[in-house]
Amino acid sequence: MYSSKITGLGYYVPENVVTNNDLKQWMDTSDEWIQERTGIKERRWIDPKTEDTTAVMGAKAAKIAIDRAGLTKDDIDFIVFATLSPDMYFPGGGVQIQDLLDMPTIGALDVRNQCSGFIYSLSVADQFIKTGMYKNILVIGSENHSGGLERSTRGRGVTVIFGDGAGAAVLSRSEEKGKGILSSHLHSEGKHAKELALIGPSTNRWVPEIMEDNDPEDVSYFPHMNGQFVFKHAVVRFSEAIIEGLTANGLQKDDIDMLIPHQANLRIAQFIQKKFQLSDDKVYNNIMRYGNTTAASIIIALTEAWEEGKIKDNDLVVLAAFGSGFTWGSVVIKW
Ligand code: ACO
Repeated sequence: MYSSKITGLGYYVPENVVTNNDLKQWMDTSDEWIQERTGIKERRWIDPKTEDTTAVMGAKAAKIAIDRAGLTKDDIDFIVFATLSPDMYFPGGGVQIQDLLDMPTIGALDVRNQCSGFIYSLSVADQFIKTGMYKNILVIGSENHSGGLERSTRGRGVTVIFGDGAGAAVLSRSEEKGKGILSSHLHSEGKHAKELALIGPSTNRWVPEIMEDNDPEDVSYFPHMNGQFVFKHAVVRFSEAIIEGLTANGLQKDDIDMLIPHQANLRIAQFIQKKFQLSDDKVYNNIMRYGNTTAASIIIALTEAWEEGKIKDNDLVVLAAFGSGFTWGSVVIKW
């Protein structure tokens, strides 16, 4: 068995900054409420006049990651692409990346695990590399939330949280024992699917049906979140996933050098930090600047932490996520 390690990281966020005060033009909200409840100060929302889309942002992040890995597009054997906001209902975004980067006709797999999307994608890529099937895999998380959010007071509980952006990693084969991805643990609990979901349009509720009903109260085409219910589950599942990852490797919380939690809410990350008694330099958060970018959040944060020199050789890096599905999981990496 080989091991797999991250050899390149990159991210891209749209230039357009939307502050909490900017949101007041659409809804009854305040900078104070948003910061106090979520920690978010601003987010990036795609300017529709630009070329950016979920796939385009993913391709921009991917180019940086491939370059930093010291590779070219022709060295990549496979693409794993995570998003809940694809450019098209079908096909998925992975094939768009293959085309946008003018890559050879390699396989492209789409992962739909929302905020856990990057954790699931990394785990999938890890299995392909460990078995020897592929040498270099491009793993991408990208989201264009802004186009599909309800910009009104009715939608404010969800809309203020989400931001756009993309991150990418190159996962490569390695023969160094005890380094790279040590473990991944993945979970789901579908009975809570509708607590955080975008119900329609879907095969269960096609557009003609929605139009025929013409019910102004039916906004099932906007995301719905039972915030407090999700919050309560998140703090429990985040902790479980981290403990599961540490235990599987015979490690303790004191062994963690860097925890990158999915950026869902700064209060959730702070709760986890306190629970695991981690100092500020051992947890990386950027939700203040980007909001929740779902499948892109962990990889953007990981890239920034690495760029800032906060992740060094031999560090123990723990990634953990929880989100819609519900889905959750962790990845433990020896850098
Ligand atoms: N501005 C001002 N007031 C608001 C806003 C807003 N943006 N949003 C809601 N409110 C109001 C509500 O209407 C409510 O008013 P009321 O008491 O008069 O009815 C009050 O504030 C409290 O609302 P809650 O929804 O109870 O607020 P809460 O403290 O729970 O915070 C939040 C909401 C931030 C969404 C929080 O519940 C949360 O972070 N939940 C978890 C999110 C998460 O982890 N998601 C998973 C990942 S996302 C994914 O997978 C796609």
